[in-house]
Amino acid sequence: MIALGADHAGFEYKENIKPLLTSLGYEFMDFGTHSTESVDYPDFAHKVASGVSSGKFSTAILVCGTGIGMCIVANKHENVRAAVVESIDAAKYTRLHNNANILCIGSRIIPWERTIEIIKTFLTTEFEGGRHQKRLDKIHTLTSL
Ligand code: RB5
Repeated sequence: MIALGADHAGFEYKENIKPLLTSLGYEFMDFGTHSTESVDYPDFAHKVASGVSSGKFSTAILVCGTGIGMCIVANKHENVRAAVVESIDAAKYTRLHNNANILCIGSRIIPWERTIEIIKTFLTTEFEGGRHQKRLDKIHTLTSL
């Protein structure tokens, strides 16, 4: 089950992501927003990221104008590794190396056709583990400073 969230700038992409996920065989839960009326992206990022942080969702997709605001908010939550992704290579490596669990998309930055490929790559690439696990452990352990 994939958690989905967007602000007004990401609403249309989110609406298009839903049938894409269905066609790929994924289920999703939509946390809004539900129109292009202006809203505040932290409200949606917090809802979605708390679901990932608690383990209710293993993966989420957040969309705003740049992906950046959503990503900043999501990464405040424990166990969350959110990444703004603008290329297919970045989608691959943020899964392989960072085990990113939230994909942040900028609808005003990335064309829809590339967004499709980014989502497919993000959802089908497995974390590589090994030396990267040690690094992830350091992300979540502030006492390693
Ligand atoms: C909304 O205008 C815009 O600021 C928001 O979608 C996002 O890009 C913030 O990071």
